[in-house]
Amino acid sequence: MLQLQNISKQYDHKVVLDDINLEIQTGEIVSLLGPSGSGKTTLLNIILGLTTMNRGKVIFNDVDLTNVPMKRRGFNIVFQDYALFPNLNAYDNIVYGLRNKKEVVSEKEIQDYIEFLGLKPHLAKKIGELSGGQKQRVALARTLVTKPKILLLDEPLSALDGVIKESIKQRIQLIAKEFKLTTIIVTHDPEEALTLSDKIVIINEGTIAQFGTPHEIINQPSNHFVEEFILKQLHIKRQNIYNLFGDNYA
Ligand SMILES: Nc1ncnc2c1ncn2[C@@H]1O[C@H](COP(=O)(O)OP(=O)(O)OP(=O)(O)O)[C@@H](O)[C@H]1O
Ligand SMILES: [Mg+2]
Repeated sequence: MLQLQNISKQYDHKVVLDDINLEIQTGEIVSLLGPSGSGKTTLLNIILGLTTMNRGKVIFNDVDLTNVPMKRRGFNIVFQDYALFPNLNAYDNIVYGLRNKKEVVSEKEIQDYIEFLGLKPHLAKKIGELSGGQKQRVALARTLVTKPKILLLDEPLSALDGVIKESIKQRIQLIAKEFKLTTIIVTHDPEEALTLSDKIVIINEGTIAQFGTPHEIINQPSNHFVEEFILKQLHIKRQNIYNLFGDNYA
C-alpha cells in the first residue's frame, strides 16, 4: 500500500499542493484527474522522488520513503514526452535503464515485455522512425524492464488517437492485473480515467476534490466541481457515460 500523508508543495510562495492525503492499494490502477495546472504532475513527481515537498510523508508498505532518494524508492515513470534517446534504437532505449543493474531482469523477461508490447519488428529502428504509439510502447517497455514496484504514467495516452489509444489502454490494464503492479496515471481526460482505472483522484487547484471508484464519482459526485468537471467542462455527454456504465448510472 502507498500512503501519502499531508503532502504540501509550494513554488515561489504559491501553494501547488495543499495537504494531500491518499491511500493506494497494491495492484490498483489509480488516475490522477484534473485540469491543467492543478498539480497532477507535481504529485506524481513527488511520489517518484524527483520533486521535493514542503511538508508530508510518502510511505510504501509501511516504510517511510520521504527522505529516500528517487533511485532507491524502486518506482519508475513514463514521462509525458516519453524522454527517449533519439540517437539510440528502440532496443537500446528499452535496456538503457538496466546498464548498471542487469541482474534485476533476465534477457528472457526483456523479450517477454517486448513481445507483449508488440515491439519485436521495431527494435532496430531509431526513435525518429517510430510512430507515436510505437514510441509510447518503447517508453512503457523501458520502464517495465526495471521492474518497478509502482508504475507512474504521466498522460500516457494524450498524444495518441483512436484505436492506438484503446490498445495501449488495454495493455496498461493487462500489465497492472497480470503483474499486480500498482499503477498511477495522470490524465486530464475524464473518459480515460473512468474507463481505465479502479479509482480516481480528482484534483482541483492542489486539493483532492474527490477520491473514489468511477462508479462512485459518476453516481455521487461529492461537490459541484466534480460534477462540472466530469459532466460539463470536458463535454462528456451523459449518453456516453450511460453507455459506459449502463443502468448503474442513475
Ligand atoms: N518547477 C516549477 N517551478 C515553478 N512552478 C511550477 C513548477 N512546476 C510546476 N509549477 C506550477 O505548479 C502548478 C502545477 O503544475 P503541474 O505541472 O503539477 O500541473 P498539471 O496538473 O500536471 O498540469 P498539466 O495538465 O498542464 O500537465 C502550475 O501552476 C505550475 O505552473
Ligand atoms: Mg502535467
